[in-house]
Amino acid sequence: MKKNFLNLGKQPIANSFLSSISKKSLRSEYFYKLLVSFDTKSFLVSVKEPVNPKIQYTDKYAHRASESKTMRAAFKTTALKLQKRFKPKMIMEIGSNDGVFLKNFPKKKVIAIEPCKNLAEITKNKFKTYPNFWNKKLSKKILKKNSKIDLIFSANTISHIPNLKETFQAIFNILSENGVLVIEDPSLSSIIKINSYDQFYDEHVYVFSALAIDNIVKRYNLLLFDVEKISNHGGSLRYFICKNSSNYKKTLRLKNIIEEEKKLGLNNFNTFKEFAKKVHKSKKQLVNLLKKIKKKNKKIISYGATYKSTTVFNYCRLGINFFHYVTDTTKNKQGKFTPGMHIPILSPEKGFNESVDYAFLGAWNFKKEILTKEKKFIKSGGKFITHVPKVKIVS
Ligand code: TYD
Repeated sequence: MKKNFLNLGKQPIANSFLSSISKKSLRSEYFYKLLVSFDTKSFLVSVKEPVNPKIQYTDKYAHRASESKTMRAAFKTTALKLQKRFKPKMIMEIGSNDGVFLKNFPKKKVIAIEPCKNLAEITKNKFKTYPNFWNKKLSKKILKKNSKIDLIFSANTISHIPNLKETFQAIFNILSENGVLVIEDPSLSSIIKINSYDQFYDEHVYVFSALAIDNIVKRYNLLLFDVEKISNHGGSLRYFICKNSSNYKKTLRLKNIIEEEKKLGLNNFNTFKEFAKKVHKSKKQLVNLLKKIKKKNKKIISYGATYKSTTVFNYCRLGINFFHYVTDTTKNKQGKFTPGMHIPILSPEKGFNESVDYAFLGAWNFKKEILTKEKKFIKSGGKFITHVPKVKIVS
């Protein structure tokens, strides 16, 4: 049974940055109710009413995985590690974005699946790219021209697809007998521990735990046999899944992580009710801190026009009443306005300078990279604000 535990209010699509704030474009802005629920049977946490993927993953999709130095390095290390452990002949990625992971393998060994046409366009001349949504039809189409796949990789994508049944059945079709599916997604235990409620937005239809993945893949003749903690996106899990009939055995590491999750109460609805209370408190604290700073006539901006900050801005009702603007290094976010709260987005070259007193860390998951990069700002008295793991000024 699905039980709701968190109401983050009316939210826009996290990646729908607006080109203009004319009456016409505001009228057509899409909003949905962001309710988060817990399934008492499978322990799966999900957005109650997912948005139609065709509205989300369009040829305007803004996120570029290779935008961050941290992620470029992480994908390279992952590619090398997986190559060494599984020695795959063919590798396929579901949600290949701008090719930041696949580019680490020989071109002839890879297949990219990317439904956002603007992103598929980037990789189509580098390696075989299918500009489609992942489903059974596509798995059959690929199998007509290729052999079965030994390594299927998918980072921050499976949790975005509402239909898990279709997704895993299509994976089962195309995976070789001893092939491995490796998926990475933000982990529920990290979110509960660091109160990062902004990991809930339209794209994150699911926030997985090892407990939930273990239960779900079983339904499709698949087996979760290993899991690894990784630091990406504020704490993620990397799941290793194979066919029931293959040779892999469940690892001790998996058993330990499942035990940790049980201890944290990820199989218990009360844990999520308590989490919701903390989220509410975090909102109050953030708004109060910003009000206090604003009273002193200080200039506040936000650093990183992230999808996560869409949740924070709209839930806490933070707009130009608090922030002068948001800065972001991504070219196709610059000159636009944030979804829902309509804060202008500038390039760091234009907006990140001595006039700024405080910068809210919208990209808190890159805190280390950003604090290292912005030493000069901090030295000259600039301050960062974060809400993760709790609301505070970072000095
Ligand atoms: P990301 O962490 O992928 O978050 P989300 O999935 O919530 O959108 O996005 C980070 C954003 O922050 C991306 O748009 C690039 C931007 N960014 C900067 O502007 N400066 C930086 O130094 C870093 C690391 C990221």
